[in-house]
Amino acid sequence: MNVIIGTMRKGTRATLRQPRLFTALASSRMQCSTQTNKPVVAAKMPFRVKVTGGKRYVWCACGHSKKQPFCDGAHRSKAPSISPRLFTPEKDGTLMLCACKQTKNAPYCDGTHFKVLFQDLVSSVKKVFKMNNV
Ligand code: FES
Repeated sequence: MNVIIGTMRKGTRATLRQPRLFTALASSRMQCSTQTNKPVVAAKMPFRVKVTGGKRYVWCACGHSKKQPFCDGAHRSKAPSISPRLFTPEKDGTLMLCACKQTKNAPYCDGTHFKVLFQDLVSSVKKVFKMNNV
């Protein structure tokens, strides 16, 4: 009887371990598939931010941060090839920081978000024409 219980326990342990292994494999696959090397659009309009002169800020370049427009470290797991941008304003003031993450003048908005907005508009119009088979 003890042997049977022992076998059942071993069998039970084995079946309990299998899901953990599967979960570990599945999560590693998920992590690989969610990583990107291109920034994602955090918002389609720039962030208007009050800054203090001489203070160091870290601007999110990947778009995954939950503390936009600033970095929260999300790039480490979601976009390891993209590094945040450090900047120090010279004086107190209000800045327009890029939210679309497509600017050529990081961390500042250079108007590239209009291109993002236009591309969204074009794809929306295409969808409407597809839906109506025009
Ligand atoms: S918000 Fe990115 S260029 Fe304006």
